[in-house]
Amino acid sequence: MSAIVVVGTQWGDEGKGRVVDRLARQAHLVARYNGGDNAGHTVVAEGHTLKLHLVPSGVLHPGLVCLIGAGVVVNPERLVAEMDELAALGVDVGPARLKLSAAAHMILPTHRALDGAREAARGPGSLGTTRRGIGPAYADKAARLNVRAGSMAQPETFAERVAERVEAHNRHLQERYGAEPLPSERVAADYCAYAQRLAPHLTDGSALVGEALAAGKTVLCEGAQGLLLDLDHGTYPYVTSSSTVSGGALTGLGFGPRHVSRVVGVAKAYTTRVGAGPFPTELLDEVGDRIRQVGDEYGTTTGRPRRCGWLDLVILRYAARANGLDEIALTKLDVLSGLERLRVAVAYERGGVRTEVFPAEFGVESLAQWEPVYEELDGWADDIRGVRRREDLPPAARAYVARIEEWVGVPVTFIGVGPAREQAIVQSP
Ligand code: IMP
Repeated sequence: MSAIVVVGTQWGDEGKGRVVDRLARQAHLVARYNGGDNAGHTVVAEGHTLKLHLVPSGVLHPGLVCLIGAGVVVNPERLVAEMDELAALGVDVGPARLKLSAAAHMILPTHRALDGAREAARGPGSLGTTRRGIGPAYADKAARLNVRAGSMAQPETFAERVAERVEAHNRHLQERYGAEPLPSERVAADYCAYAQRLAPHLTDGSALVGEALAAGKTVLCEGAQGLLLDLDHGTYPYVTSSSTVSGGALTGLGFGPRHVSRVVGVAKAYTTRVGAGPFPTELLDEVGDRIRQVGDEYGTTTGRPRRCGWLDLVILRYAARANGLDEIALTKLDVLSGLERLRVAVAYERGGVRTEVFPAEFGVESLAQWEPVYEELDGWADDIRGVRRREDLPPAARAYVARIEEWVGVPVTFIGVGPAREQAIVQSP
């Protein structure tokens, strides 16, 4: 009986969906534990490319049960649309297969309006959120004001609660931001229609996970975003509003730490970030442009160009600590092919003082004062997309991976060398 947790080690977009897809073959239940439709991953089914934001990445493996856990905030419109798209391709998204924790929280259209209004009001100091209502929904949850998914089982009171929250948000939107109110009756009616579709999927998520573990099954816990977007441990306030770290799997799904057998941290072979906030190894030159182009670094959810930079081992060491990583899945190594020299940040320096510890807890102002200390490594010219064994990589690529393992102290057990499922060097099941 075991739980495997998959987390992002940087600022999200590390390619977790792909790693979850691989590990899903040995799992019985795939459970998403945090975030909402701010996340996005691309899946290819029946020759169609789908962008999923809420339905767990394991959905394409027949026989697997998928759970959207208590720690998730759910935009029901998006969830129903994804279910319809999947069903149209013949993927089973029936209530026996796709489960929604009754303790998950609902995102309302006014949460999205508030997110947008707050971002606009911040002007140049905006956080660069996805404007999906994530922050306002989690804020209502923490304030004990929000509507939970389980309320969908009682249509009468659900409609009333939705309308009441929308009206409260409307007052705030109008008074604070001079924004247009949303029609509460209409929103409530729409939400009742979603509730009809989604109510059969409601479940006690913690019980579902607990029963699977007790029966000796494997539960794959899918994290969204990455360590540096974690509400507590990221680059606050330039973070999302949920727990992206491995501990978030325990609180977001409702099971205990002794069940966790494996924590897999997904890291891109370089670093990217969408949205505002500090990024020590950012490249604002042609190398950054090249990585963006070759790596197709544009957001799945918003289409925004991602900021690109060198790999930061200070961050990966932090990720190893904060998540208790057992292994690293390194993605997109092929994107670096053709660069003559590579740099990796191994420490930060400020006024002659050197640190190898990521200074997250002292705030972004402090982080901005540190300069990365780089180590230079040889690049490789060869196309590595056909390589399937680590020993067949060019020596410089092998050295790059080995340097990561040395610095972080965690083995790299998966190396992505191209976008297709089979374009990978896999060293553990
Ligand atoms: P929010 O989650 O929409 O509130 O956005 C807060 C920050 O997290 C912004 O910088 C977003 O760009 C970032 N963010 C949220 N979700 C993702 C993701 O899935 N990948 C990368 N960045 C994300």
